[in-house]
Amino acid sequence: MRRAIYPGSFDPVTNGHLDIIERGCKLFDEIIISILINPEKRPFFTVEERRDILDEVLKGIKRGTCELLVDDFEGLLVHYALAQKADAIVRGIRAISDYEYELQMALMNRRLEPTIETVFMMPAEKYSYVSSRLVKEVFQLGGELNGLVPPLVEERMKHKMTNG
Ligand code: PNS
Repeated sequence: MRRAIYPGSFDPVTNGHLDIIERGCKLFDEIIISILINPEKRPFFTVEERRDILDEVLKGIKRGTCELLVDDFEGLLVHYALAQKADAIVRGIRAISDYEYELQMALMNRRLEPTIETVFMMPAEKYSYVSSRLVKEVFQLGGELNGLVPPLVEERMKHKMTNG
């Protein structure tokens, strides 16, 4: 039984994240999609809203026999991963520009907890430029999000903009 943690901000979850989760399902029996609670950031969606969105959009994932769970965590990722009895941390790498930061994190995590491996996965090329940050920027400036995020995410973003 292989369990992985897929950590991130998921603010919001993008089609690139979902692509990684689908690919991760080919390698792991269970993936816990874990949202970082970061009091220093002012997110678009609250952690509860992000959990709810993830629960919904994960219903459409091709998962085979892989179990998908949604959770949140505070503090050090490796402490959380150990507590969850995870074997690995999954991170998506879109381009060389991601690699430097991801390598630093992976090596620091390995130093902190050598028993947990980091697995880098590449999303489909069509998502190589998709990031939550750009999705929010495009949305806030009135651009189309079609194909970048699941339709539910765009609906929830519109709802949040009008209703707060
Ligand atoms: O989606 P993001 O914002 O790129 O995810 C970053 C995340 C959550 C993976 C990273 O910030 C993290 O692991 N934070 C937890 C704190 C921690 O363990 N820091 C040391 C990592 S080297």
